[in-house]
Amino acid sequence: MKILVTGGLGFIGSHTVVELLEDGYEVVVIDDLSNSSLEIIDCIQKITGKDFSFYQEDVCDLNALEKIFSEHKIDAVMHFAGYKAVGESVREPIMYYENNLVSTLHLCKKMLEHDCFNFIFSSSATVYGDPEKLPITEDCKVGGTTNPYGTTKYMIERILNDIHIANPKFTVMVLRYFNPIGAHESGLIGEKPNGIPNNLMPYIVRVASGELEILSIFGNDYDTPDGTGVRDYIHVVDLAKGHLCALKKAFDSEGIFYYNLGTGTGYSVLDLVKNFEKVNGVKVPYKIVERRPGDIASCYADPSKAYRELGWKAHFGLDEMMRDSYHYILKQHEDV
Ligand code: WQD
Repeated sequence: MKILVTGGLGFIGSHTVVELLEDGYEVVVIDDLSNSSLEIIDCIQKITGKDFSFYQEDVCDLNALEKIFSEHKIDAVMHFAGYKAVGESVREPIMYYENNLVSTLHLCKKMLEHDCFNFIFSSSATVYGDPEKLPITEDCKVGGTTNPYGTTKYMIERILNDIHIANPKFTVMVLRYFNPIGAHESGLIGEKPNGIPNNLMPYIVRVASGELEILSIFGNDYDTPDGTGVRDYIHVVDLAKGHLCALKKAFDSEGIFYYNLGTGTGYSVLDLVKNFEKVNGVKVPYKIVERRPGDIASCYADPSKAYRELGWKAHFGLDEMMRDSYHYILKQHEDV
């Protein structure tokens, strides 16, 4: 079986390519390197001892997609490529709508032209907006998104539903990620955002490694146990394995399916800081500042549907997530 992975050199994409190769799939990656680098190819080859096809192209480029689908018989597509920085999406909505929507539309167009009917989509818990209940189940209300990034994910879910209705054989797995963190145990691949990190975990590891001076905690007056924001952090390797479970179901199903990929446990910002310090034996200096606009108090999954229907659940706990996140950044500093 041959799988096309868009954004396959990115954080979640690269971890999923590793799992695919180790599970015996052939892999084709398309990535424009806007948020990744060519060195990830060698890292994946070092981890797996396997090779894969790579195209440095933009998923919006119909000619590039035509070339790939003409040169390879693709059995399924995993679509990770997309811009994902919430703050940037507020400043650059046109860039976000154009890139995230057009890339998906062109991909689906080429899939149908080449009789490829299995689509695994990287969606996000952001589609739930401020959740109507906790823990969040897949039938919770969606669409109350509070930023263009989240709205692109919601709109793409709607688009994929319409494409499936028009083409019943076109089977879609919509995977709603919670907060992916951590890194492969090798320390060769992990989360390496360009510039100053927007997300909590990459910021914590850079404060701990001395790259950044102090962590700003965005508010401690939320209605949560310690007043800081609560999220469902999931190890990126657990998340990657969830994609393989969804892929297997896609091959023997027809329809559109929605799954929360989370652990079902919410941790606060202070929980992460304290756990990180304990596991890694380092201090993470912090200060409490104003809330970040658009943030919600709590968000965590009920992941039982993925367990029932995909046979998947997360295995790594917070200690491993903290350990692997720091191990990755230390290895990056070693290799510099
Ligand atoms: C987590 C918590 C912050 C940074 C976003 C996207 C979501 C998904 C994951 C792609 C919150 C607090 C953060 C900091 C802090 N991305 N925080 N200081 O906002 O839950 O979700 O990333 O799919 O779509 O919306 O993640 O890591 O930014 O924030 O106090 O420097 O950490 O307030 O409570 P978030 P995050």
